Amino acid sequence: MSNVNAGNRPSGFARGLTNYGDRDFALYLRRSFARSMGYSDEMLVRPIVGICHTPSGFNNCHRHFPELLEAVKRGVLAAGGLPLEFPVISLGEVFLSPTSLKFRNLMSMDVEEMISAQPMDSVVLLGGCDKTVPAQLMGAVSADIPAVQLVAGPMMTGRYKGERLGACTDCRRFWARYRSGEIGQAEIAAVEGNLATTAGTCAVMGTASTMACVAEALGLALPDSAAIPAVHADRLRCAEASGRRAVGLIGSDLTPRRIVTEHSVENALRVILALSGSTNAILHLAAIAGRAGIALSLERLNELSETTPVLVDLKPVGDNYMEDFHAAGGLDAVLRQLKPLLHLDCMTVTGETLGQRLEGRPAIAADPRVIHAASDPISPVGGLVALFGSLAPGGAILKRAAADQRLLEHEGRAVVFAGLDDLARRIDDPDLDVEPDDVLVLQNAGPRSPSSMPEAGYLPIPKKLARRGVKDMLRISDARMSGTAFGTVVLHVTPEATIGGPLAAARTGDRIRLSVSRRRIDLLVDEGEIASRLAQRSTIETVGGRGYDWLYRQHVLQADQGCDFDFLQQRS
Ligand code: FES
Repeated sequence: MSNVNAGNRPSGFARGLTNYGDRDFALYLRRSFARSMGYSDEMLVRPIVGICHTPSGFNNCHRHFPELLEAVKRGVLAAGGLPLEFPVISLGEVFLSPTSLKFRNLMSMDVEEMISAQPMDSVVLLGGCDKTVPAQLMGAVSADIPAVQLVAGPMMTGRYKGERLGACTDCRRFWARYRSGEIGQAEIAAVEGNLATTAGTCAVMGTASTMACVAEALGLALPDSAAIPAVHADRLRCAEASGRRAVGLIGSDLTPRRIVTEHSVENALRVILALSGSTNAILHLAAIAGRAGIALSLERLNELSETTPVLVDLKPVGDNYMEDFHAAGGLDAVLRQLKPLLHLDCMTVTGETLGQRLEGRPAIAADPRVIHAASDPISPVGGLVALFGSLAPGGAILKRAAADQRLLEHEGRAVVFAGLDDLARRIDDPDLDVEPDDVLVLQNAGPRSPSSMPEAGYLPIPKKLARRGVKDMLRISDARMSGTAFGTVVLHVTPEATIGGPLAAARTGDRIRLSVSRRRIDLLVDEGEIASRLAQRSTIETVGGRGYDWLYRQHVLQADQGCDFDFLQQRS
């Protein structure tokens, strides 16, 4: 019986032996225990494909994973490998407190360590819900054995009174109507039952769908795999193909760090911009790139945004849902339209370059109602921009495609909330002094804050204004926003207020100016006054805690570096 590959390197169960001081004994013992699982001699000598598996009773988006897992295994077995699944932490977006982002790095460490510590020759990463794919990609880049990302796929839409509903843009839309008094308790309860009706990730171009497209654009997922609905038979065929491909990658040097390069990161940025994708994707891509020793530059993001058209008409910015995107041609159709702008020499898990991938497969005619031609874009410039200025010297992000265009050049009076508790206490106070032209500011909701950068940047429109029909206001914070949300919302302000960024100096009554044309966000207060306010502010405890909370508070980086831990980034 042999557990070596063609290069005479240990393979399968002979990889990474447990250390007993006797390698032959370690292999003998391992195989005897593997036999207890009923594997035949033929299986025991096969190369192993690990399947990084993330089902959880706390993750509705992954509830179909048992079926997907079987399909991956089928592909691995058919191609001559031995599939062995292993569990890692699963992050169900809405079941975690204070916010799933806090645990993304923990999951990435779990992924990296379990890939590295267990004997596998390649790995299929089975993830989907918002933070799971970034965590798996971060971990896989660090572990750096051949890897194929397989995503959950999006949910199908539900129906309510003849209207299509999809999590979670429509969740927010109906909640805003409820807050404004347009609909009542009975109706919001009926809507609740129709928003998320199948397995899979959110039905719009939210964070999960954007990250699925990022995985494919980076070259780490199979062609045209990002948008297949979770319940579609093609999703199972894609799972089988991913298993097969993971066997094909064994022994090759096509590892994630060869695939994640400066050029493939730029391709992924172009895709995010063309999709008007989630602002969270910028943060996650920075973290993934950081694991490969690549710094994602927000200035470069702005350069790319100037020359990348928005092509995709999907909620939360447009009208359609992920199932429409898949039917309209999916990411493949977008990549073909972007082709002149992409680095076509980037390698993909198929073993082809991106250019070869696009040339080697027939183009499917895209539905122009959902995926526009580059010659007829929804917008000639990208959906997201980075902003800099006296309020955000390290940068901030705005999804301009989701904003009220009248607010893109705006100056207004600040109405400041010192944190999430303050926001909850006062936002609906009938006596709150606030007008539609004011700028809502939320402080102390960044990565080092006690709330660990939640998706609270989509500050609710104060009830008294919502009832007057106000739908959007300029909002600014160091928090994040759900990829399914929309509005004129400046996010990820860096450095954050909790560590003394200028956002902490803002006071109610100050003037704030947003100028998207100049890429600026400024607190119109004298520099000396800002410095003096910051010197006088009471500091917020950013260390302390225990266990993972302690580790997180000690080591989390700012948003411009993807909120990864400093010790996990690859030092070039
Ligand atoms: Fe899982 Fe939206 S809640 S993707």
